[in-house]
Amino acid sequence: MEILQNDLLLRAARGEQVERIPVWVMRQAGRILPEYRAVREKAGSFIQLATNPELAAEVTLQPVNILGVDAAIIFSDILVVPEAMGLPYIMEEKSGPVFPEVIKTMADVDKLRISNPEVDLKYVIDAIKIVKHELNGRVPLIGFAGAPFTLLCYMIEGRGSKTFSKAKKYLYTEPELSHALLQKITDSTIAYLKAQIAAGANLVQVFDSWAGILSPEQYRIYSLPYIAQICDAITEVPVTIFAKGAFFAREEMGKLNCETIGLDWNMDIAESRKLIGNSKTLQGNLDPCVLYGTFNEIKNQTRSMMQQFGNQRYIANLGHGVYPDTDPDKVRCFIDTVKEG
Ligand code: CP3
Repeated sequence: MEILQNDLLLRAARGEQVERIPVWVMRQAGRILPEYRAVREKAGSFIQLATNPELAAEVTLQPVNILGVDAAIIFSDILVVPEAMGLPYIMEEKSGPVFPEVIKTMADVDKLRISNPEVDLKYVIDAIKIVKHELNGRVPLIGFAGAPFTLLCYMIEGRGSKTFSKAKKYLYTEPELSHALLQKITDSTIAYLKAQIAAGANLVQVFDSWAGILSPEQYRIYSLPYIAQICDAITEVPVTIFAKGAFFAREEMGKLNCETIGLDWNMDIAESRKLIGNSKTLQGNLDPCVLYGTFNEIKNQTRSMMQQFGNQRYIANLGHGVYPDTDPDKVRCFIDTVKEG
């Protein structure tokens, strides 16, 4: 059994007593630190960095060493899974990720493979092993993957979008294709998360970043059942589900076979606790824009958030990823305020 010096995150996730609230920050690696940009420059591109286990490990450790967060999250991207299934992506400097080929027909879905993470995603698994060695038990390591629906969005749309209307259209016009694709992504994701856990990930988080574009009914058909499959399959470590914008699904999320539910800042804290129930840990949910405010404002807002969540079954975080132009000192102020309790 691995012994961690700081296992606050894991105890909070499991609903055990904690002496203080654990804190980490979504997208803490790779957005805000000048130290990250230096390593990225050395690597050449985002993809070269993400596929180089030594360098990916180095930037994973930076927020632990520089910001003092209570967990590391492996540096990678949710789009490595579609790539491992046979749909490669490129990262454009201005517009973000792009899939040169997209899924259009059932034949395209049939061509995709269920990824074998030990082969297709070996670089992530190797990075995890290096991080675990370097962490030497200081804090837990979080593994992650995109939710099947969010990955479908990119695999059909081909790039980021405000509405993902091209991808959403398929849910109405090609339900059979949509379900076949979602199932293949789900199977690949379960294998990938299990490989991350075998390599040392202590908790895994599923990012359903585009949950909020679906109606409650579509969410029940096209996202929740696949997330539920993942929750049921991952029994080794705690699981966190973060579904951005899925305020309408909170009650159902309370019934998932997972330990923690992530909240975004649109979700009222007391109302979320009521809808989700007492058997889950909650994570979140400070508006990342608060970190553009003064140090005083950040402290006040953070304390108010903590008061609303209470001091058990809670993991402090932002309500979504930290914005790239945020001052690292402001992020540190958020982290320190949580630690002061
Ligand atoms: O803490 C971390 O940031 C760890 C690594 C991480 C990345 N992507 C690295 C990355 C994580 C956890 C992700 C998740 C991710 N990727 C999500 C889900 C989380 C969320 O924010 O909702 C999504 C939707 C993506 C897809 C993606 N990757 C987009 C839309 C972009 C472009 C804009 C951006 O920066 O987010 C990426 C690129 C990306 N992924 C970068 C990094 C560090 C920037 C690329 C660069 O360094 O040039």
